[in-house]
Amino acid sequence: LHIAVLLGGWANEREVSLMSGHGVADALESRGHRVTQIDMDRDVAARIAEAAPDVVFNALHGVPGEDGTVQGMLDLMGIPYTHSGVATSVIAIDKQLTKQALVPHGIPMPGGRIVRSEDLFERDPMPRPYVLKPVNEGSSVGVAIVTEESNAGNPIARDAAGPWQDFSELLAEPFIRGRELTTAVIDSADGPRALGVTELIIDNGFYDFEHKYTEGRTQHVCPANIPAEIARLCEQYAIKAHQVLGCHGTSRTDYRWDDEAGEDGLFVLETNTQPGMTPLSLVPEQAKHTGIDYPQLCEMIVLEALR
Ligand code: DAL
Ligand code: MG
Repeated sequence: LHIAVLLGGWANEREVSLMSGHGVADALESRGHRVTQIDMDRDVAARIAEAAPDVVFNALHGVPGEDGTVQGMLDLMGIPYTHSGVATSVIAIDKQLTKQALVPHGIPMPGGRIVRSEDLFERDPMPRPYVLKPVNEGSSVGVAIVTEESNAGNPIARDAAGPWQDFSELLAEPFIRGRELTTAVIDSADGPRALGVTELIIDNGFYDFEHKYTEGRTQHVCPANIPAEIARLCEQYAIKAHQVLGCHGTSRTDYRWDDEAGEDGLFVLETNTQPGMTPLSLVPEQAKHTGIDYPQLCEMIVLEALR
């Protein structure tokens, strides 16, 4: 096949997408495919048209690329592409819309509120500890945790460094104490299949950008050392979320689990429709544990786009 790998772009996750895209391109070449790498710019449609690939591998993360815009362009061009389509991408990129879609289906998620950053300097939007995050970023870009100690219990200081300086609105959610878990799903001819549960163990702080992409900063325990019932729920919620949102190819659902609260302490944070494919990424790692190596995984995602 002639496969155009779409990577880079101008989202905050550009560097992550370059890592994903280069890995995917090498892997697909190793499987005997012809690959054209296209670093997305404003001329992307013309460049894809010129390349005239059989299929596009979308290795973009964040906005644009994971939000339905690129998907809509490819639909209009009549070119098949990997991962989810327009409607799914529009919903899943938005953490608040995702809650509105998933919670009615029995998937537990922390209650969220969109707040004006300006108002954070006046009062806390909810009891501490809480999390602030942009509604549509990935890789923990712009995430802040406000604890009891933050600014000695006073509202956030106007000149303090944080996402309120870059984003006029943020999503506020109660902070879930405890553990960080994730489950990948891949589509197959038999339907979506969960690949297990990984626990991310962090030396200190939280699973932020640095912990995600610096070798050795986070311990990945796969399969996670958690009760079978929690693992079963993670897989069940990941498949349900994949189906309810209408994900295609692959997705990855992320959790916080308050282990003192047992089953009631498990919360979905979000479902990622363009999960990372870097050497430290979680979908390739879980696939490997189930016997699917990285080049096979990349090829399966491509074949799913053509099915
Ligand atoms: N947003 C990053 C790429 C992930 O979900 O893996
Ligand atoms: Mg994400």
